[in-house]
Amino acid sequence: MKRVFSGVQPTGNIHIGNYLGALKQFVQLQEENDAIYCIVDEHAITVPQDPKLLRQHILDVAALYMAVGVDPKKAIIFVQSDVPGHAELNWILTCNSYTGELSRMTQFKQKSKGRESAPTGLFTYPVLMAADILLYDTDIVPVGNDQKQHIELTRDIALRINNKYGETFVVPEGQFVKSGARVMSLDDPTSKMSKSAENPHSRISLLDEPSKIKKSIMKSTTDSEGVIRFDVENKPGISNLLSIYSAFSGETIEELVAKYDGQGYGTLKKDLVEVTINALTPVQERYKEIRNSQELIDVLKDGADRANAIAEKTMKRVKDRFGLGL
Ligand code: TYM
Repeated sequence: MKRVFSGVQPTGNIHIGNYLGALKQFVQLQEENDAIYCIVDEHAITVPQDPKLLRQHILDVAALYMAVGVDPKKAIIFVQSDVPGHAELNWILTCNSYTGELSRMTQFKQKSKGRESAPTGLFTYPVLMAADILLYDTDIVPVGNDQKQHIELTRDIALRINNKYGETFVVPEGQFVKSGARVMSLDDPTSKMSKSAENPHSRISLLDEPSKIKKSIMKSTTDSEGVIRFDVENKPGISNLLSIYSAFSGETIEELVAKYDGQGYGTLKKDLVEVTINALTPVQERYKEIRNSQELIDVLKDGADRANAIAEKTMKRVKDRFGLGL
């Protein structure tokens, strides 16, 4: 059995990009692997958070994991800060990473743009992510395309330490889906769909009402050609809608292009509204049942115990390699 590990930040507005790029894979991968899914609250505080809201968002994401189909009998679900090994390993990895490689991370460059000085946590964010992954001897990391560079850095750090201190870490691989690995924003299809974009119509959140979903899709930015074909460079809007459609319905892009041959954008959008609402309605129903339940708290407590047991073993091994402690 392979070890699978991934995480999502508890920052609200979990959207269909997060679902199609990552969460959907979580559900598939729990079947034949030893899967661990984390709510990465320590990553969330790299930018300012309202403490009360953060607590709520942790439970929101945990409930969404279960609502989309992550099964606590098959996978461990837990909160990052409940396992001290993450912060502990983070420091050891920080001492084995370089300012040069961290300066090249595109996410840091974007988030620190225009600032004379940025929070250190934003800069070292990818090292904490490497700690998350390496702490569990992870083989596979299911994520969206935007995390590719972070996974590469994780591999580099693991290999560097293995070379210097002897076999210490499993070197992980990222796993990306075909359709949905990079869902683009609906109002500007040249940038990725994001939780933090100001315009709520730029994204479809998993908990959006049907009327909101309809509005966001119907007003999404397309082009004036009027022909439905997949061409990311020249038709980013239509290509994005086709990718989302394909990821939700399971039909290939080619099948969809053939199906909508000669039809207008309005028809494609209307059908996509239906496909999206049909996919999200059961998730929303299950979410409502779980979100305020004792079951959710019990799952997270049990998950933290199980994650801690694995993390403690790794930390013992790592400390031995580095000559830390007695
Ligand atoms: P986060 O919380 O920003 O996003 C969670 C997951 O959703 C994917 N994603 C997308 N996929 C497709 N299209 C999009 N528009 C889109 N936007 C986001 C992300 O790639 C991610 O898989 N650094 C991570 C969290 C993290 C993590 C980890 C992941 C911390 N430690 C260890 C894996 C392993 C992040 O900020 O994801």
